[in-house]
Amino acid sequence: MMADDANPSMAGKTVLITGGTGGIGKATAVGLARLGARVGIVGRDATRATASAEDIRSRSGNPAVDVFAADMSAQAEVRRLAAEVLDAYPRLDVLVNNVGGFWQHRHVTADGLEHTFAVNHLAPFLLTNLLRERLTASAPARIVTVSSGAQSLGRIDFDDLQGERDYSGQRAYNQSKLANVMFTYELARRIEATDVTANVLHPGVTRTDFSAEDSPRWMAVMGPVGRPFMKSPERGATTSVYLASSPEVEGVTGQYFANRKPRKSNPDSYDAAAALRLWEVSADLVGLSPAQR
Ligand SMILES: NC(=O)c1ccc[n+]([C@@H]2O[C@H](COP(=O)([O-])OP(=O)(O)OC[C@H]3O[C@@H](n4cnc5c(N)ncnc54)[C@H](OP(=O)(O)O)[C@@H]3O)[C@@H](O)[C@H]2O)c1
Repeated sequence: MMADDANPSMAGKTVLITGGTGGIGKATAVGLARLGARVGIVGRDATRATASAEDIRSRSGNPAVDVFAADMSAQAEVRRLAAEVLDAYPRLDVLVNNVGGFWQHRHVTADGLEHTFAVNHLAPFLLTNLLRERLTASAPARIVTVSSGAQSLGRIDFDDLQGERDYSGQRAYNQSKLANVMFTYELARRIEATDVTANVLHPGVTRTDFSAEDSPRWMAVMGPVGRPFMKSPERGATTSVYLASSPEVEGVTGQYFANRKPRKSNPDSYDAAAALRLWEVSADLVGLSPAQR
């Protein structure tokens, strides 16, 4: 990708991308590194992340790619990651909350939380809150969160947020992706007075390793058939790159995008009282202090 009106030079900007070692996140890293940004990528495994960083450097021609290893399903790791990022980056211009996945069966994290809710929603919630001050100090800054079209099918089940009574991988995924949208809308309201924007997006159905760890049978069977019709990771990353870099969305905040255009999200996502309730429940689950809320 070359710098143009939609994606201008990002020289001098620093971007952190969670899940930047593969799939859409890695393609986002290549796109933003090509535009000249310093890019930090987060993945679970240092060796895999180091190899991904090397590939991003060679594909973008930009040597400024840094590796952060953290398993974001564990809150202690998210806190360590945030501390390392604050140490490494005196300024942070863009945070791309891209990490996410689909798990057909119910798994429990080191914190005793349901895995889909913990990785897809609580991890970006906690990381964003821990990096918020640095982003504000670096303003104008942007927070970009990767949701999914599945948000439109989601429902926040406040009585069983963690699928303890009844778990379905699809329901947990849909709920977590609606949570990404409601988190973004509530965040945008909270940071309205700052020069930091928060937007959320659907990347489109994209050929990645998505759900590979614990796929439903239909995905395992249909996946190979559907793959040729899916977007390439580069195309799947275009809206993330656009929201992270384009002057066209300067000052635009609290919006859901697909194909680089604002779109309506799930009607439930506009329920500000529910978004506030989700924020407070999430803050309790990750142990945000009163000063951090
Ligand atoms: N692909 C699609 O069709 C599609 C459609 C709609 C929305 N999305 C959304 O797009 C985002 C990216 O998905 P993708 O398709 O690119 O997935 P992917 O190919 O499975 O990549 C996931 C990335 O997240 C990292 N990751 C996974 N678990 C992690 C953890 N516990 N801690 C830290 N890093 C972790 C992986 O790195 P390591 O393995 O190196 O840890 C990898 O870099 C997700 O939020 C997904 O919901 C995807």
